[in-house]
Amino acid sequence: MIKNHSIAGLALCATLLGAGATSAFAADETLRSLAEKNNIYIGAILNSQWFSGQLPGNYEQIHKTQFNIVVAENEMKFDATEPSEGQFNYNNGDKMVKYAKANGMRVRGHALAWHSQVPGWVSQKYGKNKKELLRVLKNHIEKVVGHWKGQIDEWDVVNEAISNNEPQWRTYSVWYEGIGPEFIDSAFVWAHAVDPDAELCYNDYNLEQGINPKAKAGFLLEQVKRWVANGIPIHCVGSQTHVEDTTTDKHFIGSPDSLRSLAKELAKLNIKLKITELDIGFKSGINVSKSDLERQGKTFREYLDIVLEEPNADTYLIWGVSDKWSWLSGLNRQKGLIYDDNLNPKPAFDSIMVRLQTYEPPKDTSSADSCEADSCGDSTNVIRTFTVRAGISMHLAGRTLSIAGVTAAKVEVFDMQGRPVFNARNVKGSVELKNVSEGLYVIRIQEGTKSLMQKITIK
Ligand code: XIL
Repeated sequence: MIKNHSIAGLALCATLLGAGATSAFAADETLRSLAEKNNIYIGAILNSQWFSGQLPGNYEQIHKTQFNIVVAENEMKFDATEPSEGQFNYNNGDKMVKYAKANGMRVRGHALAWHSQVPGWVSQKYGKNKKELLRVLKNHIEKVVGHWKGQIDEWDVVNEAISNNEPQWRTYSVWYEGIGPEFIDSAFVWAHAVDPDAELCYNDYNLEQGINPKAKAGFLLEQVKRWVANGIPIHCVGSQTHVEDTTTDKHFIGSPDSLRSLAKELAKLNIKLKITELDIGFKSGINVSKSDLERQGKTFREYLDIVLEEPNADTYLIWGVSDKWSWLSGLNRQKGLIYDDNLNPKPAFDSIMVRLQTYEPPKDTSSADSCEADSCGDSTNVIRTFTVRAGISMHLAGRTLSIAGVTAAKVEVFDMQGRPVFNARNVKGSVELKNVSEGLYVIRIQEGTKSLMQKITIK
């Protein structure tokens, strides 16, 4: 584990001094470099204005230095990619994929099946015609996922399909009204068939409001259990986490603790939790003081802690860079991001930076017998390093292991004492972990210098 404690000390001072003091950080320390040391992804959207060249040069400079995962604010949505039936427009999406590749960033695709930003032709032409709507959605998913096959690491396959008020599906949706809830299961199956290597997520908001059956996340958990039991190819839940600062919204009922509970429940199902659209806004019109901004920074840090501490959480993505370009104004909220109107870092930036600097993963006593020379010593770190960095991803359903990002890999499974219990060579696609009894193990997937290592549970 590489950590520079003297710099961390300076960083703490920097926070106490406020946003302007971030120069106390070593020149080469960025959110990105520290996130990479902690084996997580940290990101921000590319705002729509970036695609039309309307942003100042330092926006992109900040974006690519500070972040290692990217998503388009609007440019991969249905209305952007298929504005008229069968006429696909990939230009802006291609531009982002190229940018991500040039800067070594992971790419999220957002979003395939959503009730919003669906072009008018869908309902005008097909109304509630189930057969036609199934055809339209399937074709859209196949074309869009197919176009970026192998270039988009993870997709929001279904976005915001749950109602806000009571735990049930959202009925106000062209897909739900015309097809019924089965559009959801189908969307995952279609996306997986086209790009089996992509991680597929269900994404929604208000998931930080508890996991009891009356809360949105409680309802979602029941669906995830069903999807997993039925073999629907879902790998992650995206929590948008558009929340308000605690003291300006008296109705605020969400909390980082609730979201952490969701992460823990998802871990039992071998599903990841990703924070995908974070912003922590204040009500419009109020005067936001320095101490308000500091409290906001604390909340940003509390959400980051979930991603640092929960083994099945790997992504911390903010819905914007600067308060100047944020969708929150349309929501009667303000100042929800980590850079101010002039692209200067706010206390929230410092708070995240300090946390990334000072975070010490808990010592993990489990180990596989043969960790790589440069990464032995802290097995938690080893496991997560390989999970997110190597370009390899895996999914386990029962004893069927599916692997993406390799052509002919070596797969080894070790028990928690580090004894080998399974190995196979030249694995591509999937392999049965035969004769491995129920329990907790460490798996290692290797191809050349690429290696992924993580804990698995065989049930
Ligand atoms: C928002 C964009 O930021 C806006 O520019 C657009 O006008 C509306 O959509 N949940 C989502 C995102 O999944 O796609 C939304 O993005 C914000 C809420």
